[in-house]
Amino acid sequence: AARHRDRLYALCRDAARFYYDTLWRPENRAPQQYFIGRGLSRRTMNRFGLGYAPDSFHALMDAMTAKGYTRDELLDAGLVSRSEKGRIYDRFRNRVMFPIIDVRGNVIAFGGRVMDDSKPKYLNSPETPIFHKSRNLFALNLSKTTKNDYFILAEGYMDVIALHQAGFDSAVASLGTSLTEEQARIIARHTERIVISYDADGAGQSAAQRAIDILKRCDLQVKVLRIPGAKDPDEFIKARGAAAFRALIERSEDHNAFRIEQIAAKYDLEDDEARVLFLKDAARMLAGIESSIEREVYAGRAAKMAGVTPEAMAVEVRRELGIQR
Ligand code: UTP
Ligand code: MN
Ligand code: MN
Ligand code: MN
Ligand code: MN
Repeated sequence: AARHRDRLYALCRDAARFYYDTLWRPENRAPQQYFIGRGLSRRTMNRFGLGYAPDSFHALMDAMTAKGYTRDELLDAGLVSRSEKGRIYDRFRNRVMFPIIDVRGNVIAFGGRVMDDSKPKYLNSPETPIFHKSRNLFALNLSKTTKNDYFILAEGYMDVIALHQAGFDSAVASLGTSLTEEQARIIARHTERIVISYDADGAGQSAAQRAIDILKRCDLQVKVLRIPGAKDPDEFIKARGAAAFRALIERSEDHNAFRIEQIAAKYDLEDDEARVLFLKDAARMLAGIESSIEREVYAGRAAKMAGVTPEAMAVEVRRELGIQR
């Protein structure tokens, strides 16, 4: 079994080499231009081992079988698929390719992106004997050597790559899925502080809420960064530059402040009735904060937002604590 896994590691490495070589063939100007158009330097592309899967149902299969890999190995590595009729074909076709590399530096899987608006935008390797999505983070192999005392958690491949290119060398992504407990534990082995930098849309913001809970359970200090006027970190950095992003990191909020603002966004704080509902809602969240000092600080903030005294808010929080404990 160990030998089988070693074969799959070698196969994924050779596949990454194949996609890389294919990207740089003279006829493949379109994928080269795709990456260049997204602002990536040649150095960044090489650092991340980016590649291109050609528009063929068997190019990778042919190249890998010529190297002695079997069809079963290709299937097990998730690099080819089997049709209903039993035919075997390359999984990734006409996509720009992002190798997923584990913490020890082994290529274990791939993400592949279309170069237009077709669907699915990204196709990822399936679970395999060497790739467990929930146990890996994109770019952890690079970020683990950072000198920063914090990590940045982003949603996507391109966010992480743009962040590293801009000098934020502790950025990782949770590979599309929402963050898992295992991923949070892995992050906690490498840092004590994390800044969540998810997409600005509703999906990203609710994913941030779930990530906060998971990361706090691993005793990480969690901050949340908000991206004004852009969809995600990649687009923000492209539009505004690295220094502007650094300013966002510096201004990133503690997760409790983020939570309160998420709650406040649901209510019209100009309206008295809505303010009462906001305070009760906020009190429920505040009662869940373990540290009494933190609880008081954020209760004060909520009180200020709703225009009531800190004492009134404290009473409400104590009432909630009585109910919850
Ligand atoms: P997004 O839809 O936010 O894409 O998905 P993105 O990262 O900003 O991509 P670009 O900028 O258009 O290239 C965030 C992440 O979710 C996963 C990928 O890991 C992606 O980076 N995802 C998204 C998929 O796995 N499949 C999809 O079809 C879409
Ligand atoms: Mn998104
Ligand atoms: Mn704790
Ligand atoms: Mn994006
Ligand atoms: Mn995005």
